Amino acid sequence: MELIIKETYDQLSLKAAEIVASVINNFVATPEHPKCTLGLPTGSTPLGMYKALIKMNQQGKVSFKNVITFNMDEYVGLDVNHPESYHSFMFNNFFNHIDIDKSNVHILNGNAPDLEKECNDYEKAIKEVGGIDLFVGGIGNDGHIAFNEPGSSLNSRTRCVKLTHDTIIANSRFFDFDLSKVPVRAVTVGIGTVTDAQRVMILVNGHAKARALHHAVEGGVSQMWPVTALQLHNHSTIIASEDACDELKVGTFRYYLDLNS
Ligand code: GLP
Repeated sequence: MELIIKETYDQLSLKAAEIVASVINNFVATPEHPKCTLGLPTGSTPLGMYKALIKMNQQGKVSFKNVITFNMDEYVGLDVNHPESYHSFMFNNFFNHIDIDKSNVHILNGNAPDLEKECNDYEKAIKEVGGIDLFVGGIGNDGHIAFNEPGSSLNSRTRCVKLTHDTIIANSRFFDFDLSKVPVRAVTVGIGTVTDAQRVMILVNGHAKARALHHAVEGGVSQMWPVTALQLHNHSTIIASEDACDELKVGTFRYYLDLNS
């Protein structure tokens, strides 16, 4: 697993955008896998990466015309037009500002009448396009990726899950700090869905994520820290801000700084 440490959030975001652009620009189409396919996250962390990619798109450095996307997750029971739905987030912060064909955008429907079918169909749709080239993610304070909370099988697939109290508290900042407004369930890709991608890139920003980053890099593989599944992936990258490294050993920090930054 690669750990790239960047001094600031802006540097972290730019590095992430450069990696996404290079995956798109170096993509080689085959009949089974005709378009570069990305897995994408929501959250405050990837916002800087999306801004940088919008700029690169406007400058002609990358095009999304032949890119397919699958988002990680969505709340259950929240109207798609609600300002905090992950549909709204993605279109407002990214898709409406780039040259992507909207029919290539996939986001789980948290209002589907049959959520199990919705999740199984999502897995099938990913397989049908030939899999995901790069899955980008953020991380929860408790080490969750997408909405795979601690205790999720490291082999889990797309499914409906219950959010933990910790995550409801963390996400209440988007719902006027009113816990009762935060949806209690979500549909999410599984950890196995993420690690099936050719490459996985997780962005970790800020001191609040320091404990999770310590487990991701220095801890053992454990379902109690879902992000540790990356240790078993043969092309995984974590891009972390310096303050997210506050719980790493000085030796570990220096080692990765020398190697990759
Ligand atoms: C939510 C999302 C995750 C995201 C996490 C952290 O729980 N489901 O995909 O990684 O929030 O978000 P932030 O980047 O705002 O800290």
